Amino acid sequence: TPLSHIRNFSIVAHIDHGKSTLADRLIQMTDTVAERDMKEQLLDSMDIERERGITIKANTVRIDFTAEDGQQYVLNLIDTPGHVDFSYEVSRSMRAVEGSLLVVDSTQGVEAQTLANVYQAIDANHELIPVLNKIDLPASDLDRVAEQIEEVIGIDASGAIPVSAKTGQGIREVLEAIVAHLPAPKGDRDAPLKAMLVDSKYDPYLGVVVLVRIMDGVMKKGDRIHMLQTGATYNVDRIGVFRPAMTVVDELGPGEIGFITASIKQVRDTKVGDTITHDRRRCETALPGFKPSVPVVFCGLFPVDSAEFESLRDAIEKLALNDASFSYEMENSAALGFGFRCGFLGLLHLEVIRDRIEREYDIELITTAPSVVYHIFMKDGSMKELHNPADMPDLTYVDHIEEPRIKATILVPDEYLGDVLKLCQDRRGIQMDLTYAGSRAMAVYDLPLNEVVFDFYDRLKSVTKGYASFDYEIMGYRRDFLVKMSVLVNDEPVDALSMMVHRDRAEMRGRAMCEKLKDLIPRHMFKIPIQAAIGGKVIARETLSAMRKDVTAKCYGGDVTRKKKLLEKQKAGKKKMRQFGKVEIPQQAFISALKMD
Ligand code: GTP
Repeated sequence: TPLSHIRNFSIVAHIDHGKSTLADRLIQMTDTVAERDMKEQLLDSMDIERERGITIKANTVRIDFTAEDGQQYVLNLIDTPGHVDFSYEVSRSMRAVEGSLLVVDSTQGVEAQTLANVYQAIDANHELIPVLNKIDLPASDLDRVAEQIEEVIGIDASGAIPVSAKTGQGIREVLEAIVAHLPAPKGDRDAPLKAMLVDSKYDPYLGVVVLVRIMDGVMKKGDRIHMLQTGATYNVDRIGVFRPAMTVVDELGPGEIGFITASIKQVRDTKVGDTITHDRRRCETALPGFKPSVPVVFCGLFPVDSAEFESLRDAIEKLALNDASFSYEMENSAALGFGFRCGFLGLLHLEVIRDRIEREYDIELITTAPSVVYHIFMKDGSMKELHNPADMPDLTYVDHIEEPRIKATILVPDEYLGDVLKLCQDRRGIQMDLTYAGSRAMAVYDLPLNEVVFDFYDRLKSVTKGYASFDYEIMGYRRDFLVKMSVLVNDEPVDALSMMVHRDRAEMRGRAMCEKLKDLIPRHMFKIPIQAAIGGKVIARETLSAMRKDVTAKCYGGDVTRKKKLLEKQKAGKKKMRQFGKVEIPQQAFISALKMD
């Protein structure tokens, strides 16, 4: 296809504003897929994506479209992941295309993710086409939302296209606008091959399937290719496009988007953003701005039933095949036994992986408190990355600690602003900006990531009755007064409950933790002190009193079946207990104690 007849684009939108529905409609309107094969949300292929209505991996589709001018065009849509955790993947996919549809729900307006994604599109020099969706709904308010787009985002919305992705109204106009307003890609067919590795996924039959955007040159089956960042070399054994089913083609030329397979074993052998060239005739420079995505949130995953450790290992290895941004290593906890310390791109990523292990592999899990990566500066001048509070070095050797900070953008209706500001303040936030657009406020905060990983989303949702939207980016590291808080049950430290906290918040956290544990641990025959401590100093304490004799006395006598039942129940209960020194702690206690309110 000549460059002038190619248009590459992505769709940016806040969750639920209709990105996937619109994509489906574009595909349907152009007869890319036979009607009988059309199922809802074609692009969100993973079950969990469909269930939660979020896009996790970028997908792509090639659409053939005959425009009003009578010419046939190839439109390549790259569907970008919709969540903040995957922002690096979003930024890469954006660099693979020249324009974006900016979809805003006309009953809702601009939200935090609309902003975050639109800034990425602007960074990538995109031409933008505003699309106002859901005009079939009575609450649709086109003027207000168009005005908001101009005010908040600062782009011209006079040409915004009103559509209903549901009924199909306005879809043809969107296709025409893509052809008319988005620039054709540029590229040189005769130059050495230069292609971007946009994404990759694991297919059980084909191995790793790599999504590529050709910048210069031509790629064909049988080519020997070289990846500039990883240094690896492969033979292309299949080349094609997504319609959206995989369809083999002879070659991919400049401006085109498609896939290759090349006997690549695992997804982690491919790096999103890498530059692919020919091994023999290499391009001179790599594509700019490559940075590997690194996990920022860590937690321990342990099987509730320790006999399931091997199954857990198997599940984790399988999941990691298709997800290079997820890291893991074995961990041994005195309280929880064998498990894995896992790293994720963010909280949602963590939740998705945990859910998949529980559901697809049927393994019940204990998740320890999520922790961020701290930089521990030692007195000898070295720096350690701390992924697990249990590994905190002896304080006498520590000079200072730095923690990751984020820039959080929150959009919220006026009436909830007070509560949002208070929440941010409580979480050690520093206000960076506060502006208004109509009846909504936009607050920008500098916040410590560790205050966000616990339950910030949940709190934000509850104080704003679900009306706030939130997005963040990592800003960097800053020194603060952080300490490791340990929890001792009957004078034994319970490693799985230790956490890093700010010194000023330690007492509060410690007290809350001790109070919770007091309710969660069953009484024993002796008194059990429960303490929170920093170093050797106890900062909070509760005492669980001993079980009184007459409570157990009730178990004796009575009819035999009842006694049997009771014994069985105790046995079943035992399995769910962890022996800790002389104390038995129920599994549930770990899960509940780590949930902070
Ligand atoms: P993510 O994939 O999570 O980013 O969401 P999305 O932006 O792709 O939203 P999706 O397409 O899943 O749409 C969200 C909801 O809005 C679904 O229940 C759709 O059926 C509904 N929806 C989408 N477009 C329209 C529309 O034009 N009119 C109406 N009434 N509902 C729509």
